[in-house]
Amino acid sequence: MDSFALVIFGITSNLAQIKLIPALYDMEEKGLLPFGTTIIGLARRKMTDEDLQKYVGSVLRMKNIHHKHPIKDEIFQRLCRRFKYISGEIEDASVYTSLKRKIIEKNVIFYLATYPELYSYVFEHLKKSGLNKKSGGWIRLMIEKPIGHDLKSARELNELLLKYFTEDQIYRLDHYLGKETLQNILTFRFANDIFEPLINKEFIDHIQITASENFGIGKRGGYYDQVGALKDVGQNHQLQMLAFATMDAPAKFSSEEVAKERIKILKSLQPDPDRIVFGQYEGYKKEESVDPDSRTETFYALKTSIKNGRFENIPVYIRAGKKLNQTVTEISIVFKNPVTRPFKHLECGDEPNILIYRIQPNEGIVLKILTKIPGFENKLQAEYMQYCYRIDPHNHYIPDPYERLLVDAIRGDHTFFNDAEEVEAQWAFIDPLADARGKPHLYEPGSWGPKEADKLIGDDGRCWLEPSMAFCRI
Ligand code: BG6
Repeated sequence: MDSFALVIFGITSNLAQIKLIPALYDMEEKGLLPFGTTIIGLARRKMTDEDLQKYVGSVLRMKNIHHKHPIKDEIFQRLCRRFKYISGEIEDASVYTSLKRKIIEKNVIFYLATYPELYSYVFEHLKKSGLNKKSGGWIRLMIEKPIGHDLKSARELNELLLKYFTEDQIYRLDHYLGKETLQNILTFRFANDIFEPLINKEFIDHIQITASENFGIGKRGGYYDQVGALKDVGQNHQLQMLAFATMDAPAKFSSEEVAKERIKILKSLQPDPDRIVFGQYEGYKKEESVDPDSRTETFYALKTSIKNGRFENIPVYIRAGKKLNQTVTEISIVFKNPVTRPFKHLECGDEPNILIYRIQPNEGIVLKILTKIPGFENKLQAEYMQYCYRIDPHNHYIPDPYERLLVDAIRGDHTFFNDAEEVEAQWAFIDPLADARGKPHLYEPGSWGPKEADKLIGDDGRCWLEPSMAFCRI
C-alpha cells in the first residue's frame, strides 16, 4: 500500500477517542500503516504536536469497552511519530493554509469526525485551497453516519458532496458494514448452497432483528436527544443487517453488485406507521444534556415487510433500545413449522428451527434444531449447531470495524460503504415512521422495553425471542 496522509477533522471528538485512535493503534501494530504515512489531527483545542501525542497516549490507555488489549510502548511510540496537529476553527481559512503546508504525501484521506453543520465549510475550504483534487495521487473523503437527518437533508448533503468530490472519492461509513459478523452473513449464504433454497416465503415464518444495549446514553445526551433510537441505529445499522440477511446473491462479489442487491432490498421495504412503538427509559429526561421534557425515543419496535417475490408477506420485526435487559445484536430467521411434523405431540416437538446470525456478543452463526435426548425415551430437546468466532481453532484475528473500513478506504474498496442512493433509500423507509412519533411509552431500565412492543408482535400470535447466551460461550 502507498503511504498517505490521514487528516482527521475533530481529533478530540468522542468518535476519534473511542474508535479511530484505537483502530489506528491496531493498524500500526499489524503493519497496516505504510512507511511515511502521517496522521494530521485538527481541533479547536490549543495543543502542540507533543501535546497531541500525549493526548493520544491518554486516549489509548483510558477504559474502552471496544479496545481492551494492552498498549505496547514500542507500537505507541511508532504511532505517535506519525501524528501532527493543527489547532483552529474549522471555518477559518488559515487552518487550510497550515494543512496544505503539512500535507506532503501524494495520497490523502480526509476523515470527518466533526459536526455535520461544519461540513460545508470544510468542503469549501478544501476546494479553495485545491486540496480536494490531486494529480498523481488520490484524495478520499470518509464521512460518518448519519448522512442527513431525513431524506431531504440526506439528498442535500449528497448533492453538496458531489459539488466538491466525485462519488468514487466518497466513503460513507456505517461501521456495521465493517463488522466481520455481518460480512460473514454473505459468505455463509452465498458460499454454501444448502441454506439459500430455504431463505424465502415458502419456508420462513418471520424474521426478527434485535439490537439491545443494557446501558444508557452516557455523555452523548446532546447528540442522542436530537436523534433518537430510530435514526441512531434503525436507519442505518439495523437496515443493513436486514439487507445482508435477505438480499439476493450478487452476480459477482464486486462493490457495485453487492451494493446493488442491498439497495434493492432497502427500496422494497414497506414502512407501516401504524405498526411502530416508541419507548423511553425511566430516568432518561434526567440524563446530562437531555431536555427535561424530551419526547425522544430510546427504544423502538416495528413491523415491516419486503415487497418482492421472495419474501412477500413475511413479517419482519425490528427492535432496538438502550437500558434494556441485555446487550445483544442478532438476526433470527424463524422457520415455519409444518403441521405434518411427526413429533408435534411431544414436549417442545412443536418448536421452530431458527437460524441466528449473532452479531455480538457470543458471535456466531447458529441453527437451532431439535434433537433426541439420549436414552430410552422418545424425548426432544432444542440444541444449537454452531459456528463460533471465539472458539476458532485457528485463532484468527477479528479486526475492529473501523480498522477494517479504514483499510478498505486505503485500498479504494467501496464494497462495505454506502453510496448516495443507498442512504436515500434508507431514509425513504424511515421518514414516514419518524413522522409517526408521539409521546414515547415509558419502560423500566433492565426490561425488554414497553409492553406495547410485546403487543405489537403479540397481535400477530408471535412473541419476541429472548436472545440466548447458551451458544458460542468461551
Ligand atoms: C452507534 C450508535 O452508531 O452504534 C450508538 O450511535 C450505538 O448509539 C452504537 O451504541 C452501537 O455500535 P456497536 O458496534 O457497539 O454495536
